[in-house]
Amino acid sequence: MSLILALETSCDETAAAVVEDGRIVRSSVVSSQVELHARYGGVVPELASRAHLELLVPVVSEAVAAAGLDVARPGLAAVAATVGPGLVGALLVGVSAAKALALAWDVPFVGVNHLEGHLYAALLEEPGLELPVVVELVSGGHTLLIEMSGPGRYEVLGGTVDDAAGEAFDKVARLLGLGYPGGPAIEAAARGGSPDAVAFTRPMLHEGLDVSFSGLKTAVVHHVRAHPGTAVEDVAASFQAAVVDVLVHKALAAAETTGARGICLAGGVAANGPLREALRNACAARGLSVFLPSRPMCTDNAAMIAAAGHYRLLVDGPTGLGAGAQANLRFPTGAAAPPRPT
Ligand code: KG4
Ligand code: ZN
Repeated sequence: MSLILALETSCDETAAAVVEDGRIVRSSVVSSQVELHARYGGVVPELASRAHLELLVPVVSEAVAAAGLDVARPGLAAVAATVGPGLVGALLVGVSAAKALALAWDVPFVGVNHLEGHLYAALLEEPGLELPVVVELVSGGHTLLIEMSGPGRYEVLGGTVDDAAGEAFDKVARLLGLGYPGGPAIEAAARGGSPDAVAFTRPMLHEGLDVSFSGLKTAVVHHVRAHPGTAVEDVAASFQAAVVDVLVHKALAAAETTGARGICLAGGVAANGPLREALRNACAARGLSVFLPSRPMCTDNAAMIAAAGHYRLLVDGPTGLGAGAQANLRFPTGAAAPPRPT
């Protein structure tokens, strides 16, 4: 049995989890800082770092205890941490703590790419996921279409050329005075509006597998200025419908291009109800399988980091303690990718 303790502090969630053999979640603790940042309308990096410092020890203690481990001798195979991408000050808290714990317990340290972690969220919940699969990773910082083509082999098929999908939700929510985080706020407001009220542009709909959300955001700004009488609920529903249309269209196009048998969502925006429903219906109509991780697995958590860390340790071995945090770390592609869970 191989137990990995992972720490995730790349943005505004302080999380720790223990995962057995890369697939059994023994514990997963997430402490969200959303309320701390809400009054500023977005994540304040300095505040996030300080909050991680305060929250990390109790969160790790809870994860270790909930996994039934003895903190003096937890019997871990390794301690993993997200090394990037993310806010560098926030990342450093988790990376430094993980290295210190690894030294204290005399076990290896494993650095994990946060984006690769999001892919493992799907595999944790659906170990039998039929490959190749197209993963649409839609979060606050990233929008990527990835083909997972075999045991852990990834190819980036497309991505955003400007704003990430979650960023677009957050910016439009701020514009509409709906608060932070914007995704859930827009989804809630949209329930009271009509998706057909405003015919917003669907940028780059038929142009390859990249997406763009900046023009859509600008279209919302222009509409609100020109038609201040339009109900906020109608603007929210129409904006959300445009984003969902684009994301579903691109995921289907990616499956067609690659011959993938199914589509999987990952990242915070994957929690969006209308997106989940539209993708489920579109896949059913085309005979494609669809996998939608549970909402807690869509948003940031440490169980997905532990699962990715398990396979990184198997394939790459321990990460040197000299390795630092990398704010702009890219999605890992290439030969040394880890195998899927068995
Ligand atoms: O993956 P995540 O938790 O953190 C990052 O790594 O970015 O994603 C957070 C993003 C935010 O932009 C948030 O507004 C968006 O996911 N989000 C949603 C929903 N829940 C969270 N977007 C649309 N609908 C939702 N229900
Ligand atoms: Zn994330």
